[in-house]
Order: sequence, then C-alpha cells, then structure tokens
Amino acid sequence: MAQAKPSDVLLLRNRAWAEETKARDAGFFERLAETQAPRFLWIGCADSRVPADAITGTRPGEIFVHRNVANMVVHTDLNMLSVLSYAVNVLEVEHVIVCGHHGCGGVRSAMGRKDLGLINKWLRNIKDVCAAHLDELDAIPDPRRREDRLVELNVMAQVHNLMKTTIIQRAWKKRRSPWLHGWVYDLSDGVLQELEAIEPGTPLEYPFALDVEEGADPE
Ligand code: CO
Repeated sequence: MAQAKPSDVLLLRNRAWAEETKARDAGFFERLAETQAPRFLWIGCADSRVPADAITGTRPGEIFVHRNVANMVVHTDLNMLSVLSYAVNVLEVEHVIVCGHHGCGGVRSAMGRKDLGLINKWLRNIKDVCAAHLDELDAIPDPRRREDRLVELNVMAQVHNLMKTTIIQRAWKKRRSPWLHGWVYDLSDGVLQELEAIEPGTPLEYPFALDVEEGADPE
C-alpha cells in the first residue's frame, strides 16, 4: 500500500468531523446547503495561526472570509473587491472586520530592506503606511513594539481604505450598514482587541468622498 501523504490526514480528519457534526445535529449540512446568511465579513492575514472561525468561535455559515498577506485592502485588488461587493451587496453583512495580528511576517518584511522579488509589490502598500507614520514609529525604541504598532496602524489604514471604496460609500447611502472594524490579534495570548469601529455614514475626508448613487456597484 502506498504511503499516506500528509494531505490524506486532512481528508481523514474531514470525514471524522463530518460524522461528528452530523451526529450532534442531524440537519446541519442540509440547512447550510440551502443558503448562507453570514453577518460578518472578515478580512484577515493569511497567517496559519490566525484562523477567523476558530478564534471568534464562529461556526460554518456565520462568517464570510477573505485572507491575504497582512490583511490588506488594496483598491485595485479585484479579488478583495469581488469578495467585498458580494458580502456587502448580496449577503448584506452588518459588519466588516479587518483583523491584523502582532508578529505579522508581512509587516515585518515591509519594515525591512530585503528584496523579496514579486512580493515587494504587495509589501509596498504596507511600506506606504509605515512612511506615513515614521515619527510615531521612530519614537518607539523596542523593535518588536515598533513592529506591533505598525501592525495596528496598518489595520486602521486598511479600514479607511474600505471607507474609500464605492462599494462601502454606496452601501452607506442606501442602508447605513455595514459597520467597519479594525481588530488586532495577539498571538501570545489568543486575544482580539478592537482598535477602531466606524459607524455607517461616517463622513469621508476630501478627496475620497464621492457623490455616489445608492445601490449596488455598477461596475
Ligand atoms: Co500576518
């Protein structure tokens, strides 16, 4: 018999999970297969130590998830924009959460000088946040604490990037939802902190506010 691949273990664990879930709640999969109505969109880091559902105690069907390196909201990223548009306009989520985490490798790399090839282009977005807050960051003597502060500043910058999208501006005109949240996760104790919560309809500074029509994004 061929040796089991590490990925086979995941398939086996999946079978066990499906069995257990069904044993606990016989109608679970039938109900979920019908529809999804999550109230939350999570934009988080791809880091394997920050799984959206496990750390928030949410079950399948409760949280719509998009993850990338360093939880970025890049206004030309069609992948992120498609997820955001679907979550806001079709699922009508009530909360969009950008979640960063202390000890983020993406943020650490963005603070360094190493040429990482293709990923430089992604990290450039974080370098811009770093450059915008140099005075504050320079005043923090501990390198680890400085890095963690950029993680927090980056989360808040990405929440503001959400506000700048026509998707959020149109949604706010129509229904005063969703709330936008910036959270940070501490790998050392597993605890989430809210850094910022932005109420629907909060005015946006010049030149980012647009005279949008209400409703779905026409693009
Ligand atoms: Co990370």
